[in-house]
Amino acid sequence: MMGEMYTKHADKYAEAIENNAYNALYERPSTLALVGDVNNKRVLDLGCGPGVYAEHFVKQGATVTAIDLSEEMVELTQRRLGDAVTCYSQDLTEGLPKESSDQYDIVVCPLMIHYLEDLVPLFTEVQRVLKTGGTFVFSTHHPIIDFEDDAFNNYFDVERITEHWDTVGEPVEVSFFRRSLTNLFDSLSETGFILDKFSEGKPAPEMQAVAPETFERLSRRPNFIFIRAQAK
Ligand SMILES: C[S@@+](CC[C@H](N)C(=O)[O-])C[C@H]1O[C@@H](n2cnc3c(N)ncnc32)[C@H](O)[C@@H]1O
Repeated sequence: MMGEMYTKHADKYAEAIENNAYNALYERPSTLALVGDVNNKRVLDLGCGPGVYAEHFVKQGATVTAIDLSEEMVELTQRRLGDAVTCYSQDLTEGLPKESSDQYDIVVCPLMIHYLEDLVPLFTEVQRVLKTGGTFVFSTHHPIIDFEDDAFNNYFDVERITEHWDTVGEPVEVSFFRRSLTNLFDSLSETGFILDKFSEGKPAPEMQAVAPETFERLSRRPNFIFIRAQAK
């Protein structure tokens, strides 16, 4: 399912998202606005990628565990943070078998859940490892960006989509799942989460100068959605 974007091209991906418009000036500020204060909190970062989020949380005083399927991403996160992070490889479709219950204040999962066909098994595990009242924040593709181009698909189905993205400066095939808002929110409520805040994100004002076309587009139509939910 994962393809080469996060393995073969891990280094280039890490470089690309550090300061680009979509991640640095749109996705991360919008996700972090939902996460809030992490000082002295135990944070679990799921699908950590090259560790940009993990580094932010460590710098803000959190104790961080970071997990990714890609060994290359785990290596990049470990290199970035050394002993300041606990980081390991795990396929999240298999849950969180190495994590004990009721131990995290915050679980974050930016831009990863669209690689999962069924959200319920992972959300069940996130519920298990969060303390009572703990916070789950994630971002994912907005359904409108993956739906509107194909008049023949069914909005309410979970559909696999394969595209070529040029995030790393060359086209790389990426395969992921498009899902309806109903599927997303049902997966949360079925696993006992209470929706706390939902946002469609905003490009940071400084994007206007460095990437005016992207700023204009993201100001008119969302690319991602951002969700904060509370554990039971
Ligand atoms: C778009 S990147 C996001 C990285 C990071 N969260 C960020 O926003 O900077 C998606 C990450 O999810 C990871 N991933 C994809 N499928 C996964 C799975 N089944 N289990 C664990 N990680 C997975 C990829 O290896 C990749 O690092």
